[in-house]
Amino acid sequence: MNIVAIVGSVREDSYNKKLAKFVQERYADRLDIEILDPSTLPLYNQDKEEEAPESVVTFKEKVKAADAVLWVTPEYNGSIPGVLGNAIDWLSRVDQVMIGKPSLIMGASMGNLGTVKAQAHLRDILFAPGLQSPVLMGNEVYVGAVHTKMDEAGTITDDATVGFLDTVVTNFENWMKQFKHTVSV
Ligand code: FNR
Repeated sequence: MNIVAIVGSVREDSYNKKLAKFVQERYADRLDIEILDPSTLPLYNQDKEEEAPESVVTFKEKVKAADAVLWVTPEYNGSIPGVLGNAIDWLSRVDQVMIGKPSLIMGASMGNLGTVKAQAHLRDILFAPGLQSPVLMGNEVYVGAVHTKMDEAGTITDDATVGFLDTVVTNFENWMKQFKHTVSV
């Protein structure tokens, strides 16, 4: 399965980047995950969407070619970070490459709630007409208190979290096998 991961933090030492890399490496025998960098995208501009800059074209092509998108995001001010919203705005327009493409959402924060509000907003956004992305239900990955569960190198050291990730990834694979693209534009 070919997956692109879009991380909502561009910070060098980001916990969410590390979480995406951990997932990429741990399940490498089953999932081919490419982590995309949303900071390569310029600010969305409706005047430029038809003849979009090269970075946008490349980003969209990778999303279009993927079987699914893994979103790994922090929470900023009770919602998704602007860099993620910017990427979503580009993806939602013109060729609308997200329509019918399944999503899995994860997030990490140092607080106990582990990005719960950001993920709720992201799920809602993914239901928008320009996105129509089915999200795996009942498998919500909130890595709260992440600084106590992950070492400096980004390895998750908390067995319960790793076990939960194993379960979610298996559920995601099984869901994807049954999945039919039934959504129409
Ligand atoms: C935050 N942070 C934060 N945390 C949270 O649990 N709820 C929130 O609403 C916010 N809001 C927020 C706004 C802004 C502008 C910043 C910079 C930070 C804290 C945030 O979760 C923390 O910085 C994470 O470590 C960011 O994720 P990365 O960069 O480590 O992946």
